[in-house]
Amino acid sequence: MSPMRVVKTVHELQAMADLERRAGSRIALVPTMGALHRGHLSLIDIARRHADRVWVSIFVNPSQFDAAGDLEAYPRPLAADLAACRGKGVDAVFVPEAREIYPAGSQTWVNVTELSRPLCGTSRPGHFRGVTTVVAKLLIAAKPHVAVFGEKDFQQLAVIRRMVRDLGLDVEIVGGKTVRESDGLALSSRNQRLDTGARRQARVLSKSLDAAERAVAAEERDSARLLHLVRSEIEKAPRAEIAYVELRDPESLEPAPPRLTGSTLLALAVGFRPNPGATGAPVRLIDNRVLHLPPEEENSP
Ligand code: PAJ
Repeated sequence: MSPMRVVKTVHELQAMADLERRAGSRIALVPTMGALHRGHLSLIDIARRHADRVWVSIFVNPSQFDAAGDLEAYPRPLAADLAACRGKGVDAVFVPEAREIYPAGSQTWVNVTELSRPLCGTSRPGHFRGVTTVVAKLLIAAKPHVAVFGEKDFQQLAVIRRMVRDLGLDVEIVGGKTVRESDGLALSSRNQRLDTGARRQARVLSKSLDAAERAVAAEERDSARLLHLVRSEIEKAPRAEIAYVELRDPESLEPAPPRLTGSTLLALAVGFRPNPGATGAPVRLIDNRVLHLPPEEENSP
């Protein structure tokens, strides 16, 4: 096995992609912002099943951060990340500088207008425009056959799929299941920012999704009642601050009808306040589940 390559420029990555493609190899790209955890590593495993070459990009994308402090605070454990990639048999890691991705004077953006608006788009204006722009640039740089993204960031995945369809990009987008801690909390680099108390309370996200799933299995079809149930599960955590709890169509992200039918996305964003008396902004976590309801019968009341 040849040693893992660490690539810094778009030009070099494109030249590598051309060589691999000419040799008939399939390339899979896993875009990340680093601080790799088991969730990211699971995407690398999926990528391996789809391709001969697995490439990971590590780039903390400034244009998708809405608060400057958040960008600075983002963890950047590059040596550990490279070691993790090596351990997974990754063939190349793309670690560009910001000026490589955004050359001086950049003024080109990719924006998926409607799908970027609701849910996380409401409180993070410009966030998805930053995501779609950087992902488009990464796809142009790596020329992969397949790119893998996590379902944990459900809206991000939906927005990226829409971008690829709308632009006719020649790449297959594959979604990976959410990897969780043993108590159900979805892995996220933000989890490290939770103090012990908040970490314990953060279990309510996945618990409330489980409660919704059970309610649907017990024939709950009423959107308002289901939302109420989920909210009351989350509110059992005294330090939880709900940003949104919503039921939406998994593809269009349009609001779900009052009487639920077919596949329905339940999406949550919840902030966890620091200890009483402690300073700092709440740590905002997201989670989601697609609920599978039977299609409405023709003559049902
Ligand atoms: P980042 O947060 O580093 O996540 C990289 C990929 O890992 C994303 O596709 C994300 O959905 C996935 N991921 C995160 N937590 C996961 C978990 N617990 N289980 C499975 N997959 C998980 O998302 C981004 O970076 C950026 O927005 C990016 C797409 C790289 C563009 O900058």
